[in-house]
Amino acid sequence: MVYHTEAAAETVALGRTLSLYMKPGTVVAFSGDLGAGKTTMIKGVCVGLGVTETVKSPSFVIVTEYKGRIPVYHVDLYRLDERSDFDAFGLDSYLSGDGVCLIEWAERAAKVLPATAVHVRMTVTSSGRRIEVENLPGFGQIA
Ligand SMILES: Nc1ncnc2c1ncn2[C@@H]1O[C@H](COP(=O)(O)OP(=O)(O)OP(=O)(O)O)[C@@H](O)[C@H]1O
Ligand SMILES: [Mg+2]
Repeated sequence: MVYHTEAAAETVALGRTLSLYMKPGTVVAFSGDLGAGKTTMIKGVCVGLGVTETVKSPSFVIVTEYKGRIPVYHVDLYRLDERSDFDAFGLDSYLSGDGVCLIEWAERAAKVLPATAVHVRMTVTSSGRRIEVENLPGFGQIA
């Protein structure tokens, strides 16, 4: 499914809607350039999952854990590259944990993402953002 949003609030709202389809073990791989809106959309997902803490792009930590109705792991791989040792910070345990795992700059870890990962690809356009959502079971399908 492809969406276009014209304001940050619309991207937040889309994130909130997507959250309805997420459950323990869901991994969401966000890709897109600096400022594409990954954190903005993750804010919406977190609201939908009942997180009340402030959600922001962590500057010096790779993973922030929030308490929602289910745990939420917010991972930011910006500072890593494809050759990084993802085992070193336990990415695996977040990928296979009891929470929803939301990964910014997920393209950096493409090799270790599960085949079941949901992909959200964001690009800046002249009118806002183009957002492609792939592989979220139940979402975008007519019941
Ligand atoms: N349609 C839109 N959707 C999302 N964000 C938008 C939109 N229009 C404008 N913005 C603005 O673009 C910025 C997106 O920043 P955000 O931190 O979400 O990006 P990011 O992809 O997480 O960047 P980074 O790679 O630096 O972490 C925000 O300032 C937001 O208000
Ligand atoms: Mg961000």
